[in-house]
Amino acid sequence: MKKSLIIGAGGIGLAVAEQLHQQNDHSITLITSNKALASDTRFNVMLVENHSEEQVASCLATLSVKFDQVFCCLGMLHQDQIQPEKNLSQWRVESAMALMQANAFAPMSYLVHLQKRLAPNCKLAFLSARVGSISDNRLGGWYSYRMAKAALNMAIKTASVELARSNKGMCVFAFHPGTTDTKLSKPFQRNVPAEKLFTAQFSAECLIRLMSQVNEKDSGRFFAWDGQEIEW
Ligand SMILES: NC(=O)c1ccc[n+]([C@@H]2O[C@H](COP(=O)([O-])OP(=O)(O)OC[C@H]3O[C@@H](n4cnc5c(N)ncnc54)[C@H](OP(=O)(O)O)[C@@H]3O)[C@@H](O)[C@H]2O)c1
Repeated sequence: MKKSLIIGAGGIGLAVAEQLHQQNDHSITLITSNKALASDTRFNVMLVENHSEEQVASCLATLSVKFDQVFCCLGMLHQDQIQPEKNLSQWRVESAMALMQANAFAPMSYLVHLQKRLAPNCKLAFLSARVGSISDNRLGGWYSYRMAKAALNMAIKTASVELARSNKGMCVFAFHPGTTDTKLSKPFQRNVPAEKLFTAQFSAECLIRLMSQVNEKDSGRFFAWDGQEIEW
């Protein structure tokens, strides 16, 4: 039985957990701050108050299992007063810090504290976004989200170099799910053609398929939902 860890039970994270559950050959641990999921018997649900490093460390310290695959599906684009910037004058350090925490520092905390909980050939997918690619940036805008995803991308690339030395066989990669109909993208879907707005189920299916195909040679790479590589 494969041991899978899903971090974050938003639109895509929960869809990944549900699809793996249907495969019947997975034991699934789900880490979330969503208390409504606490009694969901399909998964081994571990509640955190938030995804701060302190919470992450104490949550992972209670585990004894070693995971074969990890899907980190945390992220934030907007919240209350925080909205993606259209120009430089809209940038605020407090908002940028919140996006850094959600998109880069929280995933990094899991990566750091998971080290002893990874099986020898473990594969780890971190949900990033194409807008975090520096070479792909043609439209501009969304400073803080882009900065936070670029920081996450650098963490993944750097960890892949270390893991290639210390844990040969492991694969850590970044994944862009495409524009997906979740809370995160809701306010920004107006100009997205219907065929380019994916369901969370479709994005999860793409991610699970890619996870089954990658190996250690793919470590440190950035893939889109269709398996195409994205330049950092
Ligand atoms: N939807 C899209 O169009 C799209 C496009 C490109 C990339 N992505 C990326 O895909 C990933 C999943 O997004 P989604 O569409 O499933 O979004 P979502 O439904 O809003 O879920 C976001 C998840 O992130 C966690 N989260 C929310 N605020 C957080 C914070 N302040 N600090 C740490 N974690 C926080 C939540 O965890 P709890 O389980 O604790 O609630 C939730 O599981 C994200 O990395 C996102 O950037 C999404």
